[in-house]
Amino acid sequence: MSCLLQGILILGSLILNDQNSEDFVVYNESKKDFEIVQKRIIDADALEKSWGDLKNYVDGSFNDNELIEKFSVKDGFAKDYKYLKEKNKFLDVITLEMLKQWSENTQKQNVKLDNCEELTETNLTKDVKTKLILEAQRARTFAYAPYSEFHVGSAILTKDGRIYSGCNFENAAYGNTICAERSAIAKAISSENRGISFQKKSNIVAIAVVLRGGGGSPCGNCRQALYEFNPNMLVIMSDIDGKNIIEKRLYELLPMGFGPCALENAKVELKK
Ligand code: THU
Repeated sequence: MSCLLQGILILGSLILNDQNSEDFVVYNESKKDFEIVQKRIIDADALEKSWGDLKNYVDGSFNDNELIEKFSVKDGFAKDYKYLKEKNKFLDVITLEMLKQWSENTQKQNVKLDNCEELTETNLTKDVKTKLILEAQRARTFAYAPYSEFHVGSAILTKDGRIYSGCNFENAAYGNTICAERSAIAKAISSENRGISFQKKSNIVAIAVVLRGGGGSPCGNCRQALYEFNPNMLVIMSDIDGKNIIEKRLYELLPMGFGPCALENAKVELKK
């Protein structure tokens, strides 16, 4: 069992000492998954105590090499955990599901949704949107953000149900940083674009962005980068627990944006 999951179990047992109980999520070793047993409301004092214990546990669980190797993951997990507890005052199923994403065992690549009709910006079901957010959450756990310690994940959805996720990756020369959204665009384009198909056929129908605090993204640079491929695309912004979701169309986030049409419209022929 991974250290992370053990940490969650320890947390679980601490919370179980609390008297306020309904449903709660614990890790079931034989099923290799979490299951709902009780939900516990953590009061402010218990919250501080369990946070400290978990942090000590996580800190003590890695040797130096592992710390270097897993630095971002451990760090990201710890920050998310604290943020979510301060925000929600209790950990519910969705929150734990999100924290579970930090476990390396749950990482997936190359996702394609099953049995979906041609997707558009307007026919996406709640299930599809939830799935897209989940993939962005997953990608977020790969973020390389040692300077800002601000992890961002994103996931692009194409017409035929393919999902391309990305995370931010920073650089010691800070300005070299690439945001999660542009990292996902790079994956999508380099995986299946042929010539001008993404641009002309508006193949990208939606992007989900997951970041601590939720709204305010994508940044201006990324809005411009996305605009190139489909000004109509749906932009779904979510907090890291999949809550406080804001949906906007890209043209609302970048009104009168500059795109390929602007160049097309301004074309002139010079007489030889
Ligand atoms: N960042 C993103 O990845 N996407 C956004 O929409 C906003 C900002 C990243 C860039 C940098 O690594 C960190 O968040 C802090 O700005």
